[in-house]
Formats: sequence, C-alpha cells, structure tokens
Amino acid sequence: MKHRHVVDLEDLTFAQLQQTVELAGKIKANPERYRHVCDGKIMATLFYEPSTRTQMSFQTAMMRLGGKIIGFDNPQNSSVAKGESLKDTITVMSGYADIIAMRNPIEGSAKAASLYSDVPVINAGDGGHLHPTQTLTDLVTLSNEKGRLNHLKIGLCGDLKNGRTVHSLIKTMCHFEGNSFVLISTKELRVPDYIKEIMNNSGCPFEEVENLQDNISDLDVLYMTRIQRERFASPEEYESQKSIYVLDAEKMKKAKEDLIVLHPLPRVDEIAVEVDDDPRACYFKQAVYGMYGRMALILLLLEDKDYFFHNQNEKTVTDKLCNNPRCIVRQEHYLPKYYYNKNGHQVCTYCDHIIE
Ligand code: NCD
Repeated sequence: MKHRHVVDLEDLTFAQLQQTVELAGKIKANPERYRHVCDGKIMATLFYEPSTRTQMSFQTAMMRLGGKIIGFDNPQNSSVAKGESLKDTITVMSGYADIIAMRNPIEGSAKAASLYSDVPVINAGDGGHLHPTQTLTDLVTLSNEKGRLNHLKIGLCGDLKNGRTVHSLIKTMCHFEGNSFVLISTKELRVPDYIKEIMNNSGCPFEEVENLQDNISDLDVLYMTRIQRERFASPEEYESQKSIYVLDAEKMKKAKEDLIVLHPLPRVDEIAVEVDDDPRACYFKQAVYGMYGRMALILLLLEDKDYFFHNQNEKTVTDKLCNNPRCIVRQEHYLPKYYYNKNGHQVCTYCDHIIE
C-alpha cells in the first residue's frame, strides 16, 4: 500500500493541492451533498498539545461528512501518562480508526507516527515545525476572499521563528507564481534558515523588516501571529518579545482597501479588538474555511486509497543523532535515524534540520 499521510503539504502534488482547495469550495457551497460521504468511517484525533480550532474543526469536519470520532485531547487521560511510546499508541489506534489527526509538541512527531500507521496520518501541528492543515485553511481563505493564490504580496508578522503556521504557509505559497513576502519580526524571531533557503531556491522575493507600521501600505495580505510563549527557553526571553507588534485601527488606516488580515488564532494582544469590526479582518471567517478545507482533505484521503502518497525523496539511515534538541528522535530512541540529502547536507527526515 502506498503511504498517504499528510505530514507536510508537499505530500500532495500541486494539482492535488488545488483540487483540495476547489473541493473545499464545493463543499461550502453545497454541504448537504456531502453529509453522508463518510458514513461508517472513524477518525481518531490524538491531541498531545492544547488546541481549540484545529481539534474542533477536524471533529466537526468528520461529523459533517457523516463519520464518527474517537481520541483524546489530554494525553494524561491516555496510556501516554503510563509511559507508552508514540509507536505503540499509533500502532493500536491505526487498528481502530480509518484516519488519524495528530497534534504533538515534538518536532518531527507526525513523520514518526506515519511510520507506524496503516491508515492516513494528518499532521495537526508538530511542535514549531509544520502545520499543513492550517495552510490549507489559509489557502481556502485566500482563494475565496482574494480570488487567487498567486501574485500576492504577503506580510507575515510576529513570531516567525517558532510559528509553524508561518513555515508551512511560506513553503506552500512559494509554489504559486508571483508571490512575495515581507517578513516583519524582531531579529530574535526571524524565520529559520531552512525557510529562507526555500524562498531563495524558488526565486520568491522576500525582505526582513522590523516595523509593521512602515510596511503595511502595499500588502495584499497581512498574516498576524501570536508570540509562541510555550516554545521559549525561559520566561524572560518571552517577556522580552511579547506585545511588540499590535495591529490597531490606526495602522489599518495606512493599509490598502482590499488588504485582508489573517491570523491562525488564538489571538493574545497582537490584533486590537477594534480591528475585528473592520471588513478587512478575515480571521474569524478563516477558522470556518478551515473546517471546509479539512472536510475536503479527509474526503479525498478516505475516498481513494492510492490518492496521496508521501513524496519523501530518500530515507537513509545514519548513525548520527539529529542535533535539534526539539526533534522526536531525541525522545523516542527506537526511531530509525533517517535522513535525506539536500544541497550537499544530510537533513533529518523528521524535523528537516541539517544534521551536522
Ligand atoms: C496555531 C497553532 O497551533 O500553531 N493555531 C491554530 O492551529 N489555529 C497558531 C498558534 O497557536 O499561535
């Protein structure tokens, strides 16, 4: 059987990605037609990390397709609390469910889970690494609200270092023609080097700036993000970065009439509540589009067993341990130390960090 996991949106071909976005639009236009397409199917939602939207939207997506759900939202209520490995939990769950959506705080955990599952695993966020279904949410939103996925000037603001939604979005938007990025953050919270390399390799123009106010006026999209407190090494480091960027009505006056403001949510203080009433604020609508995107993805994965396949270049075993302290191979020691080659480097198959 082919692997058909969605660890990264790159697991879908460009045509499949477009088909998923289009199907989301069709489901939104005619939800009645899709009410029973997953009758008799079960989805397991395994959430090792807090979530409101992602978890609930996966669950409502499955239920609106006629399927049922099992799972946990607090690993302390499962055998994980007794020390069960990820491998054992996934092996057993893949015997119960037809599809698994998993969120885990450890980078590369989704890839690791996919190795032990006979049913599709969807990455619902693996630490600060990736969050492909949030990007699918963003694509469905852009396609409906802007009418296109190309030729967009996209500003991303906030925690660009730890924000997995930012990493997934940049990776995907680089594939569409004519997009460019304005990366607005402090020096400490800039995007990781591997993301810059992706933009460089795809010829996608980007600039790194520190001021939101001075850079808002020619953006088509402004993607605000929360400073990811849980990913900071110390409370002091977080304190030094919080509340630096706040989008308010004053700054919105400088923006284009057809700008749209996105945010994966939850919001802390980076968008003032007064902006919610501005017609350009799309972040609550975005959460609804996410449910339709997930409905489309679940349906395509369950409908055709050979539809998606993991586009993993190489899987070679090394004896070197990935040097990313947040990588899953450092926690779950039975995992084969897989790497792939990229631009002359050995890169960890789980978390995409260069293995030195
Ligand atoms: C994001 C996440 O979990 O990465 N939220 C989401 O999925 N809707 C963003 C965040 O937590 O800041």
